[in-house]
Amino acid sequence: MKKLVVLTGSGISAESGLKTFREMGGLWEEYDVMEVASPEAWEANMELVLRFYNERRKQLLQAEPNPGHLGLSDLEKHFDVDIITQNVDDLHERAGSTKILHLHGELKKVRSTVDPNLIYELDGWELKAGDKCEKGFQLRPHIVWFGEPVPAIEKAVEIVQQADFFAVIGTSLVVYPAAGLIHYVPSSVPIYVIDPNPVQTPYHKNIEFIQQKAGVGVGLLKEKLLARLNK
Ligand code: OAD
Repeated sequence: MKKLVVLTGSGISAESGLKTFREMGGLWEEYDVMEVASPEAWEANMELVLRFYNERRKQLLQAEPNPGHLGLSDLEKHFDVDIITQNVDDLHERAGSTKILHLHGELKKVRSTVDPNLIYELDGWELKAGDKCEKGFQLRPHIVWFGEPVPAIEKAVEIVQQADFFAVIGTSLVVYPAAGLIHYVPSSVPIYVIDPNPVQTPYHKNIEFIQQKAGVGVGLLKEKLLARLNK
């Protein structure tokens, strides 16, 4: 099977009712990113950081995968699909996609503040001050905060370099290193960008914009990819 690599961002989960970050009404309009999503924030106001992610988790438990997530999972019938996501939700997993790399962590997981290898599934939505790892240290959200390294990026680059087709869905491509992945797409590989709004991309000779929401856009992507396969 040909390899389809898909880079997703918060826009793919918008139709599931989860907010994006930088749009009007987005999360970073409501919150100052450095006050809730940085190591400095954790030092200065752990309660606020915990509350922010508890709220996100609570909303996620009520959300369901939408046709965008489901359409990508369905594409596994025709392609070897790898999803690289900046999202911390588990909607790709719940839609049935099998190969998902989370660049920015996972909302449903928490980890030790002393040993990053001690990672746990959180039961329910609430992580509290005083919740501790097995070594007796406070647990934190398993999220990559601003200013922290992105450990999965090397693996992501490897995957992108193997793509036969590449798609970008629902990301403004402004946060690095994730946004830089597009530079590793071989020049002969077609790139499809699905987003209802214009997205600034680096130059690539083979790029097509599908200016639609993910729910509709993934259906169109499927048609275009299958047409190429059958050429
Ligand atoms: P942004 O909020 O920057 O971009 C969301 C994109 O989704 C925009 O281009 C929207 O036009 C698009 N969009 C909106 N509705 C859509 C829909 N129904 N279908 C498809 N696209 C839609 O969010 P991200 O690019 O995901 O990181 O942000 C990247 C990172 O910045 C996040 O992972 C997060 C944030 O700070 C961390 O917290 C570390």
